[in-house]
Amino acid sequence: MDISKVGVCGAGLMGHGIAQVSAQAGYEVVLRDCDQERLDKGIGKIDKQLARAVEKGRMEQADADGVRGRITGTLEAGPFADCDLVIEAITEDLAMKLELWRELDGVVKQEGIFATNTSSLAVIDQAAATGRPDRFLGLHFFNPAQVMPLLEVVQTVTTAEDTLATGFSFGERVGKLTVHAKDKTGFIVNRLLVPFMLDAIRAYEEGAGSIEQIDAAMKAGANHPMGPFTLLDFVGLDTTKAIADIMFDEYRERRFAAPPTLRKMVSAGWYGRKSGKGFYDYSGEKPLPVELGL
Ligand code: 3HC
Repeated sequence: MDISKVGVCGAGLMGHGIAQVSAQAGYEVVLRDCDQERLDKGIGKIDKQLARAVEKGRMEQADADGVRGRITGTLEAGPFADCDLVIEAITEDLAMKLELWRELDGVVKQEGIFATNTSSLAVIDQAAATGRPDRFLGLHFFNPAQVMPLLEVVQTVTTAEDTLATGFSFGERVGKLTVHAKDKTGFIVNRLLVPFMLDAIRAYEEGAGSIEQIDAAMKAGANHPMGPFTLLDFVGLDTTKAIADIMFDEYRERRFAAPPTLRKMVSAGWYGRKSGKGFYDYSGEKPLPVELGL
């Protein structure tokens, strides 16, 4: 199926980036959030990235204007009616996602394809709640979506072959390296990455090293671009805990269980970079490790 208009639900960390890469690939994009402030913030981030690309000589001003002109923000479902592809990137909560799909199923044209950017929920649980389980797949982007090269294209038992093929051609057009992943909780990357980040917290709890030392060690010793605590703050501690809970529920293995420190930090509202505080405090000029004492 040919895609020309893409709908993105959720203008947060992932949604705004997905909207931007889609518009950069030439698609018409409608970006929806249920909160005007979050929508404005998401579109503001896109404006900032485009201005930076122009400033650095990576994009002509006219092209940046073109990209921006292809993105329309909305609080409503109506503008999704003629979308060929809808990607949801809302909170990692099954009940919320199902409510969204039920609404969109009645609005979006019958041949439109639905995709979830879920990090850990089973795609089939969402697909089966719509009247188009054959036109439903997972498209899992990585943060920041504008920069990370990978897209996991997730096939669930009901995904039709032409839907899958459309997912791959969309991924290639937005410039991503696409990998075929099965509908197994955590797909490929999070199944390996999340236990690693949780284990870094356990190593800290057990006194293996300080937050800064563990980060520095994994950067210099394993060539990771970010240490695990910087990455945890970057992904969001609330998001990581939600993924861990879902994976633990699915596999019942300790390696997927959220350590006490993570649970307490989320209860305290320390979500990482987005809330200004996580394993590091972001209120100063440079991030400083937080004395946890939890
Ligand atoms: N949005 C858009 N662009 C960004 C960005 C952001 N949030 N952060 C950085 N960039 C761009 C910058 O503009 C810069 O491009 P430019 O030099 O051409 O202007 C480029 O990326 C490099 O940025 P920096 O020089 O500031 O910093 P780094 O070289 O350290 O790169 C990074 C930043 C790409 C984020 C790098 O540190 C990295 O790869 N970190 C690991 C990220 C990662 O592992 N992500 C996956 C998380 S797991 C996930 O998303 C799955 C989910 O389900 C939980």
